[in-house]
Amino acid sequence: MKKIVLTGAAGRLGSYLREHVAKLADEFVSTDLVDNVENILPNETYVKADLTNLDEIVELLKGADMVVHFGAYGDESTFETILGPNIIGAYNIWEAAYRNGVRRVVYASSIHAVGMHPKNEFIGTDAPHRPDTFYGLAKCFSEDLASLYWDKRGVESICMRILSCANVTNPRAVGSWLSYPDLAHLVERCVTTPVCGFSIIYGVSNNDRAPVDNAKASFIGYRPKDNAEQFAEEMFAQAGTLNTTDFGNMCHGGPFAAIELGNSGLAQLNLNEKTASQKEG
Ligand SMILES: NC(=O)c1ccc[n+]([C@@H]2O[C@H](COP(=O)([O-])OP(=O)(O)OC[C@H]3O[C@@H](n4cnc5c(N)ncnc54)[C@H](O)[C@@H]3O)[C@@H](O)[C@H]2O)c1
Repeated sequence: MKKIVLTGAAGRLGSYLREHVAKLADEFVSTDLVDNVENILPNETYVKADLTNLDEIVELLKGADMVVHFGAYGDESTFETILGPNIIGAYNIWEAAYRNGVRRVVYASSIHAVGMHPKNEFIGTDAPHRPDTFYGLAKCFSEDLASLYWDKRGVESICMRILSCANVTNPRAVGSWLSYPDLAHLVERCVTTPVCGFSIIYGVSNNDRAPVDNAKASFIGYRPKDNAEQFAEEMFAQAGTLNTTDFGNMCHGGPFAAIELGNSGLAQLNLNEKTASQKEG
Protein backbone atom coordinates (compact mmCIF):
# COMPACT_ATOMS: atom_id res chain seq x y z
CA MET A 1 0.00 0.00 0.00
CA LYS A 2 1.54 3.28 -1.05
CA LYS A 3 -0.50 5.89 0.81
CA ILE A 4 -3.13 5.64 3.56
CA VAL A 5 -4.94 8.58 5.19
CA LEU A 6 -6.28 8.28 8.76
CA THR A 7 -8.93 10.80 9.85
CA GLY A 8 -9.69 11.50 13.51
CA ALA A 9 -6.00 10.90 14.23
CA ALA A 10 -5.99 13.05 17.39
CA GLY A 11 -9.00 11.23 18.87
CA ARG A 12 -9.07 8.39 21.37
CA LEU A 13 -9.11 5.56 18.83
CA GLY A 14 -7.26 7.44 16.08
CA SER A 15 -4.27 8.27 18.28
CA TYR A 16 -3.96 4.56 19.22
CA LEU A 17 -4.29 3.50 15.58
CA ARG A 18 -1.65 5.83 14.12
CA GLU A 19 1.33 3.49 14.60
CA HIS A 20 -0.69 0.46 13.47
CA VAL A 21 -2.01 2.06 10.28
CA ALA A 22 1.39 3.61 9.55
CA LYS A 23 2.88 0.09 9.33
CA LEU A 24 0.48 -0.76 6.49
CA ALA A 25 1.60 2.05 4.18
CA ASP A 26 4.71 3.51 2.59
CA GLU A 27 3.29 6.99 3.08
CA PHE A 28 0.98 7.62 6.05
CA VAL A 29 -1.06 10.83 6.37
CA SER A 30 -2.84 11.54 9.64
CA THR A 31 -5.39 14.31 9.94
CA ASP A 32 -7.65 16.02 12.48
CA LEU A 33 -8.71 19.50 13.57
CA VAL A 34 -5.80 20.14 15.95
CA ASP A 35 -2.67 22.00 14.82
CA ASN A 36 -0.26 19.11 15.52
CA VAL A 37 -0.01 15.59 16.88
CA GLU A 38 2.91 14.40 19.03
CA ASN A 39 5.57 11.82 18.15
CA ILE A 40 5.28 11.93 14.37
CA LEU A 41 6.30 8.56 12.90
CA PRO A 42 9.04 8.22 10.27
CA ASN A 43 6.61 7.76 7.34
CA GLU A 44 3.91 10.08 8.75
CA THR A 45 2.78 13.54 7.65
CA TYR A 46 0.17 15.30 9.75
CA VAL A 47 -2.29 17.60 7.93
CA LYS A 48 -4.82 19.78 9.74
CA ALA A 49 -8.11 19.57 7.83
CA ASP A 50 -11.80 20.05 8.55
CA LEU A 51 -14.08 17.23 7.43
CA THR A 52 -16.85 19.72 6.72
CA ASN A 53 -14.74 21.44 4.03
CA LEU A 54 -14.91 19.48 0.74
CA ASP A 55 -11.99 21.34 -0.87
CA GLU A 56 -9.70 20.50 2.06
CA ILE A 57 -10.73 16.83 1.99
CA VAL A 58 -10.29 16.53 -1.79
CA GLU A 59 -6.78 17.96 -1.38
CA LEU A 60 -6.09 15.65 1.58
CA LEU A 61 -6.94 12.45 -0.31
CA LYS A 62 -4.82 13.23 -3.40
CA GLY A 63 -2.78 10.15 -4.34
CA ALA A 64 -4.22 8.02 -1.51
CA ASP A 65 -4.94 4.31 -1.97
CA MET A 66 -7.17 4.07 1.08
CA VAL A 67 -8.72 6.22 3.76
CA VAL A 68 -9.35 4.95 7.29
CA HIS A 69 -12.11 7.26 8.43
CA PHE A 70 -12.39 7.75 12.21
CA GLY A 71 -13.02 11.53 12.33
CA ALA A 72 -16.46 12.44 13.72
CA TYR A 73 -18.33 13.91 16.64
CA GLY A 74 -18.12 10.80 18.82
CA ASP A 75 -21.26 11.03 20.95
CA GLU A 76 -24.95 11.84 20.73
CA SER A 77 -25.72 15.56 20.50
CA THR A 78 -28.13 17.91 18.76
CA PHE A 79 -28.81 17.23 15.09
CA GLU A 80 -27.05 20.50 14.23
CA THR A 81 -23.86 19.34 16.01
CA ILE A 82 -23.89 15.94 14.27
CA LEU A 83 -24.75 17.32 10.82
CA GLY A 84 -21.38 18.93 10.00
CA PRO A 85 -18.70 16.40 10.98
CA ASN A 86 -20.73 13.18 10.79
CA ILE A 87 -23.08 13.68 7.82
CA ILE A 88 -21.57 16.36 5.58
CA GLY A 89 -18.12 15.14 6.66
CA ALA A 90 -19.00 11.61 5.54
CA TYR A 91 -20.25 12.84 2.17
CA ASN A 92 -17.01 14.80 1.75
CA ILE A 93 -14.91 11.69 2.49
CA TRP A 94 -16.67 9.43 -0.04
CA GLU A 95 -16.93 12.16 -2.67
CA ALA A 96 -13.25 13.08 -2.27
CA ALA A 97 -12.36 9.38 -2.39
CA TYR A 98 -14.23 9.04 -5.67
CA ARG A 99 -12.69 12.16 -7.21
CA ASN A 100 -9.20 10.98 -6.30
CA GLY A 101 -9.61 7.35 -7.37
CA VAL A 102 -9.16 6.10 -3.79
CA ARG A 103 -9.80 2.37 -3.77
CA ARG A 104 -11.37 1.83 -0.34
CA VAL A 105 -12.84 3.63 2.67
CA VAL A 106 -12.45 1.75 5.97
CA TYR A 107 -15.06 3.39 8.12
CA ALA A 108 -15.65 3.57 11.90
CA SER A 109 -19.39 2.97 11.96
CA SER A 110 -21.13 2.00 15.16
CA ILE A 111 -23.52 -0.38 16.87
CA HIS A 112 -25.71 2.72 17.28
CA ALA A 113 -26.76 2.34 13.62
CA VAL A 114 -28.74 -0.69 14.85
CA GLY A 115 -28.95 0.23 18.54
CA MET A 116 -32.72 -0.11 19.02
CA HIS A 117 -32.75 -3.82 18.12
CA PRO A 118 -33.51 -5.86 21.24
CA LYS A 119 -30.40 -7.38 22.72
CA ASN A 120 -31.83 -10.90 22.89
CA GLU A 121 -31.84 -10.83 19.07
CA PHE A 122 -28.42 -12.05 17.93
CA ILE A 123 -28.13 -9.65 15.01
CA GLY A 124 -26.00 -10.22 11.94
CA THR A 125 -24.30 -7.81 9.59
CA ASP A 126 -27.51 -7.76 7.52
CA ALA A 127 -29.65 -6.41 10.39
CA PRO A 128 -31.72 -3.48 9.10
CA HIS A 129 -30.84 0.00 10.28
CA ARG A 130 -32.55 0.87 13.55
CA PRO A 131 -30.66 3.89 14.95
CA ASP A 132 -30.91 4.86 18.60
CA THR A 133 -29.81 8.53 18.32
CA PHE A 134 -28.98 11.29 15.81
CA TYR A 135 -25.41 9.97 16.17
CA GLY A 136 -26.60 6.50 15.11
CA LEU A 137 -28.67 8.00 12.31
CA ALA A 138 -25.52 9.62 10.90
CA LYS A 139 -23.82 6.21 10.97
CA CYS A 140 -26.78 4.80 8.98
CA PHE A 141 -26.38 7.66 6.47
CA SER A 142 -22.67 6.95 6.12
CA GLU A 143 -23.23 3.22 5.63
CA ASP A 144 -25.80 3.98 2.92
CA LEU A 145 -23.36 6.43 1.35
CA ALA A 146 -20.75 3.65 1.35
CA SER A 147 -23.23 1.31 -0.35
CA LEU A 148 -24.17 3.97 -2.93
CA TYR A 149 -20.56 4.85 -3.77
CA TRP A 150 -19.79 1.15 -4.30
CA ASP A 151 -22.84 0.54 -6.51
CA LYS A 152 -22.60 3.71 -8.57
CA ARG A 153 -18.96 4.78 -8.38
CA GLY A 154 -16.90 1.68 -7.60
CA VAL A 155 -15.41 2.93 -4.32
CA GLU A 156 -15.06 -0.05 -1.95
CA SER A 157 -15.98 0.32 1.73
CA ILE A 158 -15.91 -1.73 4.89
CA CYS A 159 -18.11 -0.29 7.64
CA MET A 160 -16.90 -1.48 11.04
CA ARG A 161 -19.82 -1.32 13.45
CA ILE A 162 -17.75 -0.85 16.59
CA LEU A 163 -19.60 -1.84 19.76
CA SER A 164 -17.56 -0.38 22.61
CA CYS A 165 -13.83 0.26 22.47
CA ALA A 166 -13.30 1.42 26.04
CA ASN A 167 -12.66 0.06 29.53
CA VAL A 168 -15.16 -2.52 30.72
CA THR A 169 -17.13 -0.56 33.33
CA ASN A 170 -20.65 -2.03 33.12
CA PRO A 171 -22.52 -5.28 32.40
CA ARG A 172 -23.22 -4.35 28.78
CA ALA A 173 -19.50 -4.11 28.05
CA VAL A 174 -19.03 -7.79 29.03
CA GLY A 175 -20.68 -8.47 25.65
CA SER A 176 -19.81 -5.31 23.70
CA TRP A 177 -16.10 -4.80 24.53
CA LEU A 178 -13.61 -4.31 21.71
CA SER A 179 -10.05 -4.32 23.06
CA TYR A 180 -7.49 -1.98 21.52
CA PRO A 181 -5.35 -4.86 20.14
CA ASP A 182 -8.45 -6.37 18.51
CA LEU A 183 -9.31 -2.95 17.06
CA ALA A 184 -5.84 -2.75 15.49
CA HIS A 185 -6.23 -6.29 14.08
CA LEU A 186 -9.69 -5.43 12.71
CA VAL A 187 -8.42 -2.31 10.91
CA GLU A 188 -5.43 -4.24 9.56
CA ARG A 189 -7.74 -6.91 8.09
CA CYS A 190 -10.10 -4.31 6.64
CA VAL A 191 -7.17 -2.61 4.90
CA THR A 192 -5.45 -5.77 3.67
CA THR A 193 -8.39 -7.96 2.64
CA PRO A 194 -8.04 -8.27 -1.14
CA VAL A 195 -11.62 -7.38 -2.14
CA CYS A 196 -14.63 -6.24 -0.13
CA GLY A 197 -17.06 -4.31 -2.35
CA PHE A 198 -19.47 -2.87 0.21
CA SER A 199 -19.22 -4.79 3.49
CA ILE A 200 -20.22 -4.51 7.12
CA ILE A 201 -18.46 -6.11 10.08
CA TYR A 202 -18.99 -5.77 13.83
CA GLY A 203 -16.09 -4.44 15.87
CA VAL A 204 -16.25 -6.63 18.97
CA SER A 205 -13.74 -8.83 20.80
CA ASN A 206 -14.02 -12.59 21.17
CA ASN A 207 -16.40 -12.18 24.13
CA ASP A 208 -18.39 -15.20 25.32
CA ARG A 209 -21.40 -12.87 25.48
CA ALA A 210 -20.90 -10.93 22.21
CA PRO A 211 -24.46 -10.12 21.08
CA VAL A 212 -23.72 -9.87 17.33
CA ASP A 213 -22.80 -12.29 14.55
CA ASN A 214 -19.93 -11.71 12.11
CA ALA A 215 -20.44 -14.96 10.17
CA LYS A 216 -21.25 -13.18 6.90
CA ALA A 217 -18.06 -11.11 7.18
CA SER A 218 -15.76 -14.06 7.85
CA PHE A 219 -13.99 -13.51 4.50
CA ILE A 220 -12.34 -10.44 6.05
CA GLY A 221 -10.36 -12.79 8.31
CA TYR A 222 -11.00 -10.88 11.53
CA ARG A 223 -10.23 -13.27 14.41
CA PRO A 224 -10.32 -11.33 17.71
CA LYS A 225 -8.42 -12.74 20.69
CA ASP A 226 -9.56 -10.88 23.80
CA ASN A 227 -12.56 -11.89 25.90
CA ALA A 228 -14.35 -9.67 28.46
CA GLU A 229 -15.61 -12.71 30.39
CA GLN A 230 -12.74 -12.07 32.82
CA PHE A 231 -14.67 -8.96 34.01
CA ALA A 232 -18.15 -10.56 34.13
CA GLU A 233 -18.36 -11.49 37.79
CA GLU A 234 -17.21 -8.08 38.99
CA MET A 235 -19.47 -6.17 36.58
CA PHE A 236 -22.62 -8.13 37.43
CA ALA A 237 -21.93 -7.97 41.17
CA GLN A 238 -21.46 -4.19 41.02
CA ALA A 239 -24.61 -3.62 38.96
CA GLY A 240 -27.02 -5.79 40.98
CA THR A 241 -30.38 -6.70 39.45
CA LEU A 242 -30.86 -4.99 36.08
CA ASN A 243 -34.10 -3.16 35.34
CA THR A 244 -35.86 -4.88 32.44
CA THR A 245 -37.96 -1.80 31.60
CA ASP A 246 -34.77 0.19 30.85
CA PHE A 247 -33.94 0.23 27.10
CA GLY A 248 -30.34 0.74 28.19
CA ASN A 249 -30.31 -2.84 29.48
CA MET A 250 -32.55 -4.36 26.83
CA CYS A 251 -31.25 -2.90 23.51
CA HIS A 252 -27.98 -3.23 21.61
CA GLY A 253 -27.32 0.51 21.90
CA GLY A 254 -27.12 0.40 25.72
CA PRO A 255 -27.49 3.87 27.28
CA PHE A 256 -27.79 5.46 23.82
CA ALA A 257 -31.05 3.52 23.43
CA ALA A 258 -32.39 4.97 26.67
CA ILE A 259 -31.40 8.66 26.52
CA GLU A 260 -33.47 11.48 25.10
CA LEU A 261 -32.44 12.47 21.55
CA GLY A 262 -29.70 15.08 21.69
CA ASN A 263 -28.36 14.12 25.16
CA SER A 264 -24.88 12.65 25.66
CA GLY A 265 -24.75 8.86 25.78
CA LEU A 266 -21.08 8.72 26.77
CA ALA A 267 -21.84 10.69 29.94
CA GLN A 268 -23.75 7.64 31.21
CA LEU A 269 -20.82 5.28 30.73
CA ASN A 270 -18.18 6.43 33.22
CA LEU A 271 -15.52 5.35 30.72
CA ASN A 272 -12.43 6.70 32.46
CA GLU A 273 -13.00 4.74 35.67
CA LYS A 274 -11.12 1.48 35.50
CA THR A 275 -12.64 -1.30 37.57
CA ALA A 276 -10.67 -2.92 40.37
CA SER A 277 -9.58 -5.92 38.29
CA GLN A 278 -8.50 -3.75 35.35
CA LYS A 279 -6.46 -1.51 37.67
CA GLU A 280 -4.71 -4.57 39.03
CA GLY A 281 -4.22 -5.90 35.48
N1 LIG B 1 -14.93 4.69 20.94
C1 LIG B 1 -15.84 3.78 20.61
O1 LIG B 1 -16.11 2.83 21.35
C2 LIG B 1 -16.57 3.89 19.30
C3 LIG B 1 -17.65 3.05 19.07
C4 LIG B 1 -18.29 3.11 17.85
C5 LIG B 1 -17.84 3.99 16.87
N2 LIG B 1 -16.80 4.81 17.13
C6 LIG B 1 -16.38 5.75 16.10
O2 LIG B 1 -14.96 5.74 16.01
C7 LIG B 1 -14.52 7.05 15.64
C8 LIG B 1 -13.48 7.54 16.64
O3 LIG B 1 -14.06 7.50 17.94
P1 LIG B 1 -13.28 8.09 19.22
O4 LIG B 1 -13.86 7.41 20.39
O5 LIG B 1 -11.81 8.03 18.96
O6 LIG B 1 -13.80 9.60 19.19
P2 LIG B 1 -12.99 10.95 19.46
O7 LIG B 1 -14.01 12.01 19.67
O8 LIG B 1 -11.96 10.74 20.52
O9 LIG B 1 -12.24 11.19 18.07
C9 LIG B 1 -12.87 11.76 16.95
C10 LIG B 1 -11.90 12.72 16.31
O10 LIG B 1 -12.58 13.30 15.16
C11 LIG B 1 -12.17 14.66 15.10
N3 LIG B 1 -13.13 15.52 14.42
C12 LIG B 1 -14.37 15.91 14.85
N4 LIG B 1 -14.91 16.80 14.00
C13 LIG B 1 -14.01 16.96 12.98
C14 LIG B 1 -13.99 17.76 11.82
N5 LIG B 1 -15.00 18.58 11.50
N6 LIG B 1 -12.91 17.69 11.02
C15 LIG B 1 -11.86 16.88 11.32
N7 LIG B 1 -11.81 16.10 12.42
C16 LIG B 1 -12.88 16.15 13.25
C17 LIG B 1 -12.04 15.09 16.56
O11 LIG B 1 -11.21 16.25 16.68
C18 LIG B 1 -11.49 13.86 17.24
O12 LIG B 1 -10.09 13.91 17.39
C19 LIG B 1 -15.76 7.93 15.54
O13 LIG B 1 -16.22 7.95 14.22
C20 LIG B 1 -16.76 7.19 16.41
O14 LIG B 1 -18.08 7.47 16.02
C21 LIG B 1 -16.15 4.79 18.33
